Amino acid sequence: MKSTLKPLTQRPAWKALTAHHKKIKGLHLKQLFAADSKRGERMTLEAAGLFLDYSKNRITNETLKLLFKLAAESGLKARIKAMFNGEKINITENRAVLHVALRAPKNARILVDGGNVVPEVHAVLNKMEAFSKRVRSGAWKGHTGRRIKNIVNIGIGGSDLGPVMAYEALKHYSDRSLTFRFVSNVDGIDFVEATHDLNPAETLFIVSSKTFTTLETMTNAGSARDWLLKGLGRNPKAVVKHFVAVSTSAEKVSAFGIDTANMFGFWDWVGGRYSMDSAIGLSTMLAIGPKNYRAMLAGFHELDEHFHTTPFAQNLPVLMGLLSVWNTDFFGAETVAVLPYEQYLKRFPAYLQQLTMESNGKHVTLAGKKVNYQTSPVYWGEPGTNGQHSFYQLIHQGTRLIPCDFIAFGQALTKLGRQHDILMANVFAQAEALAFGKTAEEVRVEGTNGALVPHRVFEGNRPSNVILARRLTPEVLGKLVALYEHIVFTQGTIWNVNSFDQWGVELGKALAQRIVPELESKATPKLKHDSSTNNLIRHYRKLKITS
Ligand code: F6P
Repeated sequence: MKSTLKPLTQRPAWKALTAHHKKIKGLHLKQLFAADSKRGERMTLEAAGLFLDYSKNRITNETLKLLFKLAAESGLKARIKAMFNGEKINITENRAVLHVALRAPKNARILVDGGNVVPEVHAVLNKMEAFSKRVRSGAWKGHTGRRIKNIVNIGIGGSDLGPVMAYEALKHYSDRSLTFRFVSNVDGIDFVEATHDLNPAETLFIVSSKTFTTLETMTNAGSARDWLLKGLGRNPKAVVKHFVAVSTSAEKVSAFGIDTANMFGFWDWVGGRYSMDSAIGLSTMLAIGPKNYRAMLAGFHELDEHFHTTPFAQNLPVLMGLLSVWNTDFFGAETVAVLPYEQYLKRFPAYLQQLTMESNGKHVTLAGKKVNYQTSPVYWGEPGTNGQHSFYQLIHQGTRLIPCDFIAFGQALTKLGRQHDILMANVFAQAEALAFGKTAEEVRVEGTNGALVPHRVFEGNRPSNVILARRLTPEVLGKLVALYEHIVFTQGTIWNVNSFDQWGVELGKALAQRIVPELESKATPKLKHDSSTNNLIRHYRKLKITS
């Protein structure tokens, strides 16, 4: 697709935003709120059961107008259409980008190379459902005839972060008679700790890898096979009952020794970090059951429809994507803190790190030109209120501007006295404190005097979004993930980068493959790296021998 777009910084809306930013950057959120008594009600948006309060961003009506203009000048509408139409917008890999097809209803039609992919999606879903029912009911037996009690997902990146996040997020809905573990790191300890208390006769491994070549996953899968065979009398036939695979490569699955009848496929048009609702979600379905899993897909789909069809001014992901561009490129914010006030979402920030940064951590445009603006900020975070007692100090009084996304729910999944109200009071208090701070005068009035005053001042004027939903259900989790997927899409479109490749992970992988034999060889290897790398390798070889 030849682009007719102007470079980002030459678009009229970008130039206007630059001038506008100069004008309003000195305004404090206090002033913005004082000037408009309805701001806190006006700057909110509700869609698909998610309520967003974005009033505590450093914006005016004019900012919003210009940001929507920027979206229009950046061709966002056409690009959304192109994605939903199955066009090959991942140009560096010549692939369509169709995670939205994974949650499309049965009767939808989404074409890739002239073929409708929706029936295939539903065929895999049905296969996952039949398998999940057999495992959950005990009909699927292990090699020795015992029922499966433990499920271990082996995968990394998108083949791990989504499954582990979803399992933790939806634990409330999971079958507690099953034990779930997730092995990702090539550090052997990950595997050892995940399996040390499991009985191989009752353990099922899901080897999840889109490519089925990833070093970490294949190494761990090999260790799992050895562990299983050791525990089950070294009968290779045992593998069939204890290993299933999720992959796009039947050939490689079969070469590993897994029966392709027990393989759950997906397609090259699903990116790893966009795959938690493909067959990569098999562990999720085993945990929460097919019905809940389908509810999660329905949640995803509802947000997809919202993104696809809603005008920008009422479009949640578009708005949030644009606000993050505003904070990143105009206010110079380098990071975004994602702060779920919901312990079940403890892995959500880690999941978002891959989604956001592997997607938009790019230094060249779609046309391969170096960008002259910032692309993805660093996403990070921890659940509240824990973070409040660790890094929030920096967010409140440090020297950096850190926009925050607070995520919270109207109802706790399990009520415990007053705890949910206390939790929620903290969400609102944090967003309030960040925005409005506390002046020296207010500190003095409280009785603090002299040298201590500046230490107790909060400048405020720190932006945040608050997202509220009724309860953390499978459906709502689907909506939240889709929301961030489409925020990433919006950002990537404005920044004019390819949000769907990840060449940046390749160099390290290739170098590691070269270094492995240098660490393992009995003879002293001839090292041809830089002097630091050579020295580190030599040092490691010494440590290895003497330890
Ligand atoms: O190294 C990055 C990456 O390619 C991710 O994009 C992907 O999610 C992960 O590795 C795992 O890949 P696979 O599912 O092919 O094992």
